[in-house]
Amino acid sequence: MPESNVPTQVDVLRCRIGTDVAFAAECLRSGGLVGMPTETVYGLAASALQPQAVAAVFDVKRRPHFDPLIVHLSGIDQLPMVAKEIPERAYQLAERCWPGPLTMILPRTAEVPDLVTAGLPGTGVRIPAHPMARQLIAAAGFPLAAPSANLFGCMSPTTAEHVRDGLGNSIDYVLDGGPCSIGVESTVISLMEEQPVLLRHGGLPLEELEQIIGPIVIAAADPDAHDRAQPAPGMLSRHYAPRTRMQLIPAEAEAHPVPGIRNVLLTWGNAPVAPGFDRIHSLGPAEDLRICAAGFFAALRMLDALAPDVIIAREFTDSGLGRALNDRLRRGAAGSEQSHAH
Ligand code: TXA
Ligand code: MG
Repeated sequence: MPESNVPTQVDVLRCRIGTDVAFAAECLRSGGLVGMPTETVYGLAASALQPQAVAAVFDVKRRPHFDPLIVHLSGIDQLPMVAKEIPERAYQLAERCWPGPLTMILPRTAEVPDLVTAGLPGTGVRIPAHPMARQLIAAAGFPLAAPSANLFGCMSPTTAEHVRDGLGNSIDYVLDGGPCSIGVESTVISLMEEQPVLLRHGGLPLEELEQIIGPIVIAAADPDAHDRAQPAPGMLSRHYAPRTRMQLIPAEAEAHPVPGIRNVLLTWGNAPVAPGFDRIHSLGPAEDLRICAAGFFAALRMLDALAPDVIIAREFTDSGLGRALNDRLRRGAAGSEQSHAH
């Protein structure tokens, strides 16, 4: 934190939220941590080139060190700083999808600290589309390592207040760029081998990527690997979990409450709902999953905060953004299952 902005006692407990990009950049230069708006979810940003700042990101998130961080760039001109031997396909994707919700894993340069990549030979890179994110990276003058700004395993934040509520007493500032327009994390694709591999479904649908570079293999997650390295550590099954137990129902099924307990429902479209829910929240129309995705995490937080006995959630059809939403729902349900098993 820069000296001119010595925190007051209140700030010590909860960091400030504001739109001061220059101040946020100054925090980052002095090795601090800043909540950064992006079009997908809010990130917890630190200088990607300062290992101590990166270490603080892991500490604050309580994130295991085997789970690498995405490096965020302000423009393609910064790419050679962090990646080398860049395949042609990466440029094809960059041209069509950046800035935007796509993270590519590319061979790293020596400039990227081991901590950022968890010792892996590749680094995740992304140019975010949110103008404030790009202003921040440009003002800082170096790439930013940023995971989603939530405690490890918890739901991703899609507003500045979500970030402050989760991490507010351990970071320097939250840059407020309004609610995230996409609402789910970036799609992660590895271009480390000849064959592109999808490591995480996200804001850019698989179908759109395949139109640009042809067939993509989907990496299989090992559902039993809760606490060890995976090809993409983001494949850990316990992730995005609300505190409340969550139970999923098929896309078209009628939603029924579990008898005798307090039920809330997270749904979409106009599939049938039986009576008896304390609260029903519809994410949006079946025809526009972008609306459903944009409100997804905020809705899940809102329902969780009602502290019901169970959140019944309707799965999506497995295509387009529905894949990304289902992935969050399934891992959220698996995570809530584990925490309720003890
Ligand atoms: O939309 C997003 O991607 C957001 C915003 C802030 O950019 N970030 C985000 O970061 O979701 P995070 O850390 O919560 O998830 C990134 C995932 C990691 O869990 C990891 O699996 C994968 O991306 N990843 C990052 N770097 C990698 C690498 N070098 N090799 C393999 N996987 C990597
Ligand atoms: Mg995350």
